[in-house]
Amino acid sequence: MKIIHSPAEMTAWAKGEAASGRRICLVPTMGCFHAGHLSLMRLARGRAERVVVSLFVNPTQFGPREDFAAYPRDFARDSRLAAEQGVDLLFAPEAAQMYPAGFQTVIRVSGLTRYLCGASRPGHFDGVATVVHKLFAITRADSAVFGEKDFQQLAVIRRMVADLNLDIEIIGHPIVREEDGLAMSSRNIYLLPADRAAALSLSQAIRLARRAAAAGERTVAVLAGLVRAHIESFAGTEIDYAAFVDAASLEPVEKVDARTLLALAVKIREKVRLIDNGFVLKAD
Ligand code: PAF
Repeated sequence: MKIIHSPAEMTAWAKGEAASGRRICLVPTMGCFHAGHLSLMRLARGRAERVVVSLFVNPTQFGPREDFAAYPRDFARDSRLAAEQGVDLLFAPEAAQMYPAGFQTVIRVSGLTRYLCGASRPGHFDGVATVVHKLFAITRADSAVFGEKDFQQLAVIRRMVADLNLDIEIIGHPIVREEDGLAMSSRNIYLLPADRAAALSLSQAIRLARRAAAAGERTVAVLAGLVRAHIESFAGTEIDYAAFVDAASLEPVEKVDARTLLALAVKIREKVRLIDNGFVLKAD
């Protein structure tokens, strides 16, 4: 597996691949790989002749009181795992190469970011959209794979690609879960064994809402009550949002239908912010 740090070198390599008729599928990541990331890489493998994984902990998508400095980093482990998945190239730039002196452009997707993480993490999606646009340009990717755990991120990127006529196919990958239902996340490594029960309350709450909806309950106020009560029954949980939204617009809804997504963000022990989501009218 080739490793490149410089954006200019990355683009030169990508141009060479395109000239030889080889397509590139990009998996953008911030590292600290888990089984979910590896699954994205395997999906990418089936989509193009070349798989590029970017590894960049993007400072502009973290708020001032968020975990940028503490975000888990292990380049040696990540590069070994990517190589084992048959990744062709790992692109790992430095922040100064991505945002050199004088940098002043921001990409903002305005509507979809009014809700959910966009509301509780101001500026987060500006950072995400800007860095993802840069990664698309630098790697010249033909397609890119993103996990559906970050449902709003995927929606924002699809919107940006459509609005800016970017010639890239966006591929979503279903949430990868641990055996007990916990959605895989790099932030799970912050969880202590004693946090597990509280962390599992998110996926359990989604199942609870699904069961109630399957039994005929369609009123969001009732379902939201069940979801909140379940999560709050675990010590150390603090709900950031538990929102029933339309999956296309991300706007809150009052009655559940086939497009209704339950999106959750919960802080565990005031330290670990977990997110999860699922369609409400879907069998477990
Ligand atoms: O989902 C992530 O890991 C990041 O938000 C991304 C898409 C790599 C942008 O920094």
